[in-house]
Amino acid sequence: MPEKKKIIANEIIELDQVSSTNDYAYQLALDGKQEGCVVVATEQTTGKGRLGRKWDSPAYLGLWFSIILRPTAQAPAATLYPFFASVAIVKTIQKLFSLTPDVKWPNDLLINQKKFCGILTEAAFERQQIKFLILGIGINTNQTPADFLPEMRAVSTSIRQEIGEWVNNQMFLQQLLTQLDSYYSIVLKQGFAPIINLWKSFCRSLGQTIALKQPETTMKGIFHNLDQDGSLILRQENGQLVKILSGDLDYLKK
Ligand code: BTN
Repeated sequence: MPEKKKIIANEIIELDQVSSTNDYAYQLALDGKQEGCVVVATEQTTGKGRLGRKWDSPAYLGLWFSIILRPTAQAPAATLYPFFASVAIVKTIQKLFSLTPDVKWPNDLLINQKKFCGILTEAAFERQQIKFLILGIGINTNQTPADFLPEMRAVSTSIRQEIGEWVNNQMFLQQLLTQLDSYYSIVLKQGFAPIINLWKSFCRSLGQTIALKQPETTMKGIFHNLDQDGSLILRQENGQLVKILSGDLDYLKK
């Protein structure tokens, strides 16, 4: 059988230091770089998180990388792509470390209720179509508690902190890129339904009482379902179902 041609990691650009791999990859994509190209940096000086936050990205203590995607899809589908990345990250960690992280809506990954991974998607559109997507992935692999900013210590962790062993970033990235390529080919062949189902199977807050913080309000309710478009369906106390497109989720005790 001829070997299937991989898309993700058909080219890997390795940088020692960069402001943000997302910004670097975005510029490459604007200049026409092909789908699948990965930009990985040892260190980011101004790593970016969701909602305009900073993402601390010290040298060697984590994996900081971005992937250029060029799916043929309508603009609203852009929010779905991080879900296949989350599933691929969970699968890689299961395989390498016999540990199943929790996925937190929309795009965080947790171990023991602390965040170790975040995903930032940035997109360019043309006539309601996705022109390209930059899937930026940050994974805390080797920090100790002292490596986190004091205000982040209670809510952040690294894989090393959880498994008690130094993580080989090179080996981890290689395995992860293989999984990302496999799950991207599932998306291309079958769409997002299998991805959404897998994501739900890793989500411990599904069915639980949660709070959703948005700039103006905080909504409380039960995490009823993840919709096929990646939005969160919240069941409010009066039984009404509300579809949430963005926000920050907090776990609440019942
Ligand atoms: C978040 O949880 O807020 C998303 C964090 C995303 C961080 C990654 S690190 C690689 C890529 N480059 C960036 O500047 N951000 C993403």
